[in-house]
Amino acid sequence: MNKYVVTGGAGFIGSAIERALLRDGASRVTVIDNLRSGKEANLEDVRSSVDLHRVDIRDYDALRTAMEGAEIVFHEAAIPSVPLSIDDPVPSHEVNINGTFQVMRAAAAVKIRRLVYAASSSAYGDTEVQPKAETMQPAPKSPYALQKLTGEYYASVYASCFGLDTVSLRYFNVYGPRQDPSSPYSGVLSLFIKCILAGKAPTIFGDGEQSRDFTYVEDVAQLNLKAARASGFSGRMYNGGNGGRITLNQAWSLLQKFEGVSIPPLYGPPRAGDVRDSQACTKAAVRDLGHDPKYSFEEGLRLTLEWYRASVR
Ligand code: UD1
Repeated sequence: MNKYVVTGGAGFIGSAIERALLRDGASRVTVIDNLRSGKEANLEDVRSSVDLHRVDIRDYDALRTAMEGAEIVFHEAAIPSVPLSIDDPVPSHEVNINGTFQVMRAAAAVKIRRLVYAASSSAYGDTEVQPKAETMQPAPKSPYALQKLTGEYYASVYASCFGLDTVSLRYFNVYGPRQDPSSPYSGVLSLFIKCILAGKAPTIFGDGEQSRDFTYVEDVAQLNLKAARASGFSGRMYNGGNGGRITLNQAWSLLQKFEGVSIPPLYGPPRAGDVRDSQACTKAAVRDLGHDPKYSFEEGLRLTLEWYRASVR
């Protein structure tokens, strides 16, 4: 039986967690993914070490079977995107809330030792104070933010009522290799990189002065491993950010500098449900989990650009 299960394991963050686990000595990893947005291509380099269960996370019985005998579950499966949750709220509600409930129910039934839940910084909403600390009141501004916050509350209630040990990590705009740039709902840096490699102008929603704590995927994968191992802290939530803050204008400028080009962006109206600024306070995650982000924005963006360049070739 495999010790580790990753839901959404064929996705960009889930597959980074698998790679980190395998590098760290795990012999095999169970992947649960319905391949809706996950891709087998993301598993190419680890295919011989993962057991892929093509399962929808709303399917309790199939989840139970796939999790039987495991010790740790990393719950990454979700339908992401703030604007998608506004344009088409039903699927994201069903997967992000109902699916998350079934994952926790199955994990409790098979007596998992710890479940690490992928929560989202969007739960904070617009706060004037930066950086955002775990002690702040949540104020979700979109269905996606509310759904991810509900998952966090479920993680906490599963810990207190059903004896399932859980830790939630609020991710802050994760980026890196394998993020899918193919949809208008894709993460902004993947879209920017696609544009710069094609020599095209991106569209920036608003004035481009909104900021994000862009966090490199490898740092997030390492934080997941640490959260799985830290003893105690069950039912708690931690920020999984880098601790910095970059505006979209700065990100596009840096890409132009890397490529030695000058392409003015197009500016459009601000996007519904958007948060203005987002920066993580990392103190609690550093103190309790040993969080230790290693990638500066410049370094992470350069590595990501190189990866996309090679994959386009
Ligand atoms: C939010 C969450 C993040 C979560 C993600 C899941 C916040 C602060 N962050 O990200 O933790 O992982 O949802 O999807 O809520 N933009 C453009 N042009 C584009 C695309 C996007 O200007 O072509 C802008 C958006 O309007 C936004 C910023 O870029 O201001 C980031 O957007 P996106 O990458 O979609 O992520 P968030 O919605 O910030």
